[in-house]
Amino acid sequence: MDSKCTKRSFLYTGCDEIDKQHQGFFRLLEKFNSQIADHENSQIADIISELYLYSIYHFETEEKIFSQYPSIDFSKHLNQHQAFSDKIEQFNSVCLLDNPKETNKILKFMENWLISHIQKIDIADFKAIEDFENKK
Ligand SMILES: [Fe+2]
Ligand SMILES: [Fe+2]
Repeated sequence: MDSKCTKRSFLYTGCDEIDKQHQGFFRLLEKFNSQIADHENSQIADIISELYLYSIYHFETEEKIFSQYPSIDFSKHLNQHQAFSDKIEQFNSVCLLDNPKETNKILKFMENWLISHIQKIDIADFKAIEDFENKK
C-alpha cells in the first residue's frame, strides 16, 4: 500500500532519508489503524511502542542533521519533537487501560501531528538548510 507521503507530495522535505522515514511513520500508522478496527488491543500496545521507538530514531536522525548547522535556530523544532515523545509516553499508559475509544484518539492525534509537523516545521527547516548550502 502507498503511504500518505507518496500520495501527498506536499509532504516532501526534499531530504530523501527523512522522506523515507516519514513514509515509514505513515505505514506504522496504517498498521495501527487496521488493528484498531480488529480490536486487537495487545497488538495496539505493541504498535504504540514501535511508534515511540521509531519516533526516537527519526527525531535523532533529524537532530543529527541539524547539529551540523549551528548557525540555524532549530529550538522550536526540537521542542516539538520532545512534546510528541512525551505525548506518546502518556498514550502508552492509556493503552494499558484497554480503551478502544482512547486508542482511536491516539491514532488521530499522531496522524494530525505528523502531517502538521512535516508541513509547518520539517519542510521549513530543511528548506533553511538548503538555502544555507546554496549560499556557500
Ligand atoms: Fe520529521
Ligand atoms: Fe521534525
